[in-house]
This record gives sequence, structure tokens and C-alpha cells, in this order.
Amino acid sequence: TLKFLPLFLVALMLSGCGKEGVSALKPEGDVAKEQASLMLVSLLIMVVVVLVVGFLFTYAIIKYRKRPGQEDYIPKQVEGNKKLELTWTIIPIILLCILAVPTITKTFALSDNNASKKSDVLKIKVTGHQFWWQFDYPDQKITTAQDLYIPVGKKVEFDITSKDLIHAFWVPALGGKQDANPGQTTHLWLKADKEGTYKGRCAELCGSSHALMYFNVKAVSNDEFKNWVKDMKAGTKSSPNKPETASAKQGEEIFKNNCMSCHAVGDKGGQIGPNLTNFADRENIGGFEKHTKGEVKKWIKDPESIKPGAKMPKFDKKLSDDQINALADYLFTLSVKQ
Ligand code: CUA
Repeated sequence: TLKFLPLFLVALMLSGCGKEGVSALKPEGDVAKEQASLMLVSLLIMVVVVLVVGFLFTYAIIKYRKRPGQEDYIPKQVEGNKKLELTWTIIPIILLCILAVPTITKTFALSDNNASKKSDVLKIKVTGHQFWWQFDYPDQKITTAQDLYIPVGKKVEFDITSKDLIHAFWVPALGGKQDANPGQTTHLWLKADKEGTYKGRCAELCGSSHALMYFNVKAVSNDEFKNWVKDMKAGTKSSPNKPETASAKQGEEIFKNNCMSCHAVGDKGGQIGPNLTNFADRENIGGFEKHTKGEVKKWIKDPESIKPGAKMPKFDKKLSDDQINALADYLFTLSVKQ
């Protein structure tokens, strides 16, 4: 039964590949397509090498095996063979050259953020934090977190950095990945062909919640993107999201007194935690749990119960259940959707 173990392991690994929007083998944009084709070329070359070596190996052990009744003897010893040695040196060199050309060209093309005219591209600054992502749109002057909005069919250029330690920005279906290093800016551009939500991941081990450092990329139509920017900017000027209920109004006061030193809504508030301007529109609390009021309350009480290592302090002792309830009511008014 043990001999099926490798097969079983491969099946197990492949079963993780089909997950919606997280496969580098199901490219949905130019960059991801190039990268997938590069993977296929490498795979093809590797398969040929494995087949040839496997064949020679099997041939040799069958042909030169000890046959029944054969006496023990030491075969003829061969030392040095110029022809053979040249062959097995030159063939790998050729294979490496074949691989190197597209790999190097594509690596440079991918990190080139200045090739196109400014009007054709959208610039986004990405900052990795333990354990969440900040997205600044310098030309639009808006900031958001966790859910990254981009227009379909447009080249998006990312300037990537980190606030604390090394993270890596990766959207498997669109391409990447690129390290986010503190005190340094790395570059990457991506493009989405189709509207949809693509899953993003941190691809560099960065602490206890590395595996939970998710984000969403929302590729929307050009018009939808323009509207989103407009609404986010309106949120920047003054709060467009008027809390209607008494509870939400109370929550707004609690937010101002307890949360605003770290979290901003629009351009008012601190920059330590994620900007919450469109908090209610987000899909996942903390990046991965379902975005429900219950989960949000659980998060406020004890963030580490959801995301170990999260920097936000617990509020279960500082605020009463009623206050946390009001705060959650307020947070769910923070929407820029009409
Ligand atoms: Cu950030 Cu792993």
C-alpha cells in the first residue's frame, strides 16, 4: 500500500489547486498568462529530461544486471570519456539558455513600471503590515485596505513596500509575486482581463498569521471604478455615510474616542491600522473571516482570537457589550456603495 503514497500526496496537493481565483495555472491577465506559459515551458523541458534519464537508467540496469548463474566479476573500468563528458555538459547548458531567455526577459518586463505613458496606467502603492494590506492611490488621493479595486483591461503599476518586515504581494490568477521590503520599494505591474474577485496572498513567511494575510482584488469595469473613486473621495472630504440609527450614532462617538487614533475614515484618523472608509463593503473581516456583525464584534473584543499576532488591542475590558454592539452598527454604515 505504501507504494501509492507518492501518488496520494500528489493528488492531495493538486486538490488545492482548483480553489476559485487562487490558481496560477488559471491565468486571468496578461502577466499571469506569460508566467503560466513560462511554467509550462519549464515543465515540458523537465519532462523530456526525466524521460530521457529514466529511459537510460532503466536500460542500463536491465542490460547490465547480474544474470542467474553468472559468476561475480569486476566489469571493465572506464576512466574519462571526452565525448560523453562534453555531451552531458553542453546539453544542460543549452537547456538552461532556453530557459534563461524568457525567464530574464519576463522578469525585467514585469518589474518595469515606467514603460508606459502615465495616462495609460493606474498607480497603486502597496504597503504590507502584520497582517494586512494597505492600498494608496496617489493620483486619486484615496487610501483603502484589504479590498483592492482595479479597472479591468488597464495596466496597474504597483510600488510595493512594507511597514514592518518582509511580506510578498501575490495574486496567483493575475501574476506576481513581489517581495514587500521595509525601507525599499519594489515594482510590479498586473492587468486583469475579466471582471471578478481574485484572491491575493502574502507569499513570504511573516509571523503567526502569515497564512491569514489575505486580500481581495476586485476587478471592475472602468465606469464602476470611476464611481468607486468618486465615492471614496467623497468619503475623504466628510463622512458620506451618515449613521442613521441611534445605536450607530452612539457607535460613531465610541469610534472617535477609542479607534480613530489608529483607524481613519476618509482622511480623518490615524494611519496605524487599516483605513475603514468602505469597511462595510469588504468581504472578509480581518481578511479571511466572513464579514458579519457577529464576527466584527468578536474581532473588536479580541482580535487575536481571529488573527493571532494582530497588533490591535483587545476591547473586551474597555468597552461594554452594548458599546461594542453600537460600534459594530456604526462600522456597518461605512459604505461607499449606493
Ligand atoms: Cu505577510 Cu506573510
